[in-house]
Amino acid sequence: MARKRVGVLISGSGSNLQALIDAASDPAYPAEIALVVSNKADAFGLQRAAKAGIATQVFDHKGYGDRESFDAAMDAALRAAGCEIVCLAGFMRILSRGFVEGWAGRMLNIHPSLLPSFKGLHPQRQALEAGVKVAGCTVHLVTPDLDDGPILEQATVPVLDSDDEAALSARILEQEHRIYPKGLALLAGGAVRIEGRRALTG
Ligand code: GAR
Repeated sequence: MARKRVGVLISGSGSNLQALIDAASDPAYPAEIALVVSNKADAFGLQRAAKAGIATQVFDHKGYGDRESFDAAMDAALRAAGCEIVCLAGFMRILSRGFVEGWAGRMLNIHPSLLPSFKGLHPQRQALEAGVKVAGCTVHLVTPDLDDGPILEQATVPVLDSDDEAALSARILEQEHRIYPKGLALLAGGAVRIEGRRALTG
């Protein structure tokens, strides 16, 4: 089966991007990373992409009058690169409804909480403040509502008495790197069936 071409949107370090690049280095993996897009020119993830020989493009959101025109520019680049799936990997901009609907069923996000708990910014801090004993991360299909959409993969980690935000975030991030490639493989391999809010993958 032909590998699905994937565009990855980043804003920062790109360690999840790296996990996807590493997974896709196996020719049997059902997806290949075709393009990396960043809204920040200094995002370290751009260097990771370049090192792997992957095309990169920067769209500085400050250079656009509104969200729609910024999103339209990214959308055009993704389509020009032949992308069939989009992965958000630490992309810290809210996407417009039009962009999201254009990639419905074909766009994934990773979020460092056990959704539907702790949506939005600083989910690890939210988990600590809520006093939960188990935290984790979620790979889900993107819908117009923030950090919503059918869940493909989740992983849990314990919250320790000694945890601060950095320690908990690092423990969760390790699991992110494990489940994001699994979630993308499910989608790219055609294994995902949506029933209501549920993504069935069996
Ligand atoms: C990751 O923890 C990711 O889950 C989170 O940003 C970090 C990016 O790290 N994303 C969000 O919070 C999105 N709501 P990375 O650049 O090293 O992959």
